[in-house]
Amino acid sequence: MTRSKRSKSSETPPPPQKRILALHGPNLNLLGTREPEVYGRTTLADIHAAMEARARADSVIVESFQSNHEGQLIDRVQAAASEAVRYIIINPAGYTHTSVALRDALAAVSIPYVEVHLSNIHAREAFRHHSYFSDRAAGVICGLGAYGYLAALEFALSQLRES
Ligand code: DQA
Repeated sequence: MTRSKRSKSSETPPPPQKRILALHGPNLNLLGTREPEVYGRTTLADIHAAMEARARADSVIVESFQSNHEGQLIDRVQAAASEAVRYIIINPAGYTHTSVALRDALAAVSIPYVEVHLSNIHAREAFRHHSYFSDRAAGVICGLGAYGYLAALEFALSQLRES
């Protein structure tokens, strides 16, 4: 083996980029046009672009996944465990108030998460006041509109810096 080859093989590979998963539940694909007086006019694509840009500055990858199907969200959470996802930012949308199964998936993978809601669910109908996710969340942000995702991301990035 030549000297140059030996030095090349002994180089330590760069550490893998840290990953954050942003999960969006049913009907959030309609953001921008869906009840804008409640959810604002920012689209999910706009939110993702802003999160991606902010995370890139810290060399962190943010992947966004939206689904209208509970099983697909559960499958995505399970896959996150084998992809070394370090943090999850989740707006379970309507499943917030119904889904034991999605809650169980998050518990199963033990990936810390922040729960985000665009609207203030506590200022709305009584059935929105209970969340199956809040007691296990690192934190809950609601009522700040699209900014809530960036606040959650800022927190997740600070956690990743410390780890
Ligand atoms: C929501 C609040 C939920 O009650 C509702 O079902 C949604 C969106 C929010 O972001 O404010 O779909 O999670």
